[in-house]
Amino acid sequence: MIPQANPGAGYRAMKAEIDAAVARVLDSGWYILGNEVRAFESEFAAWLGATATIGCANGTDALALALRGLDIGPGSTVVTVSHTAVATVAAIQMTGATPLLIDIDPLHYTLDPAELAAVLDNPPPGLPPVRAVIAVHLYGQAADLDSIVTTCRRHGVALIEDCAQAHGAASHGRRLGTIGDVGTFSFYPTKNLGALGDGGAVATQDAERAARIAALRQYGWRTHYVSDEVGVNSRLDEMQAAILRVKLGHLDAQNARRQAIAAAYDAALAGTSVSPPARRPATEHVFHLYVVRVAQRDAEQARLREVGVGTGIHYPVPVHLQPAYRGRIALGPSGCRQTELAAREILSLPLYPELTDTDVECVCSAVRRL
Ligand SMILES: Cc1ncc(COP(=O)(O)O)c(C=O)c1O
Repeated sequence: MIPQANPGAGYRAMKAEIDAAVARVLDSGWYILGNEVRAFESEFAAWLGATATIGCANGTDALALALRGLDIGPGSTVVTVSHTAVATVAAIQMTGATPLLIDIDPLHYTLDPAELAAVLDNPPPGLPPVRAVIAVHLYGQAADLDSIVTTCRRHGVALIEDCAQAHGAASHGRRLGTIGDVGTFSFYPTKNLGALGDGGAVATQDAERAARIAALRQYGWRTHYVSDEVGVNSRLDEMQAAILRVKLGHLDAQNARRQAIAAAYDAALAGTSVSPPARRPATEHVFHLYVVRVAQRDAEQARLREVGVGTGIHYPVPVHLQPAYRGRIALGPSGCRQTELAAREILSLPLYPELTDTDVECVCSAVRRL
């Protein structure tokens, strides 16, 4: 079976380098927030084109720290999409802010800029004022930042880019995470830049905001053992930072391999009833996932499984329809109609850099028969 994702293959491909990095940390005697974290933060910032990045425990915390760094919490509404990892919404709730979920553009599966403008022009009654928007760059593709940035600026609302699935993706040549007020990243093992455990980071162009977020991730300490404000424990450990430094060195090549596999899949799908992913003009897609749209999704998924092709569904149940949220979360005027339609038809094909050419050809011949 060819799996949809395979983080173990990523480790094996860099085993000697990763093992040496882990041994270096074990020998050092320093395991949390040390030289490896500091080095990774500056190397990742340089690679992104950000002033600073701050490592933290995971991508959910990165979003919550970003919101807190923008003074968003109780008494604020934060707009985002329902078609995302539940983490995006959970992070808003961790801060005490109120989420407002709006629909997606059905072609690119990212936040619908027209509905964003509508909810900022006419906020739904009964909610606190909208203070921030989280644009999720889903599947490795940029949300429509040209429109979103303009709308946020017009309303004086902060913009956070959720780049958990978009390490290295770009809009007009600028890497995502450096365009809004703050960018956030997850290093969950299957991500384009994945640790071998949990990890996350916040990116910002503002050095003082970076210092504040760095303090918030460790009890509000700017000086050891002195909390200037109430913070949390969301530290990145030295082992994950050392592994991430190794993997960052391979990320551009790995993203290029993902793009080449995506191009092969595009060609295989031409003339079939399956729609390949659309590319937004003037952006670079890094194919965290290759998500097709197909009418009889569950039957086609079973057919692919029979011929040894594993697939995934990202995500089968929109956030607003999950038991914890159904009927308890504010929605934009469209009621997330496109989100619900997409959830029935999306299917993620195998995509990770270590797929061999033979694996790719096997997936292509299976999808040609759909
Ligand atoms: C879009 C999105 N946002 C946030 C997260 C949260 O990241 P983590 O799992 O590291 O907390 C993820 C990953 O699961 C994600 O895909």
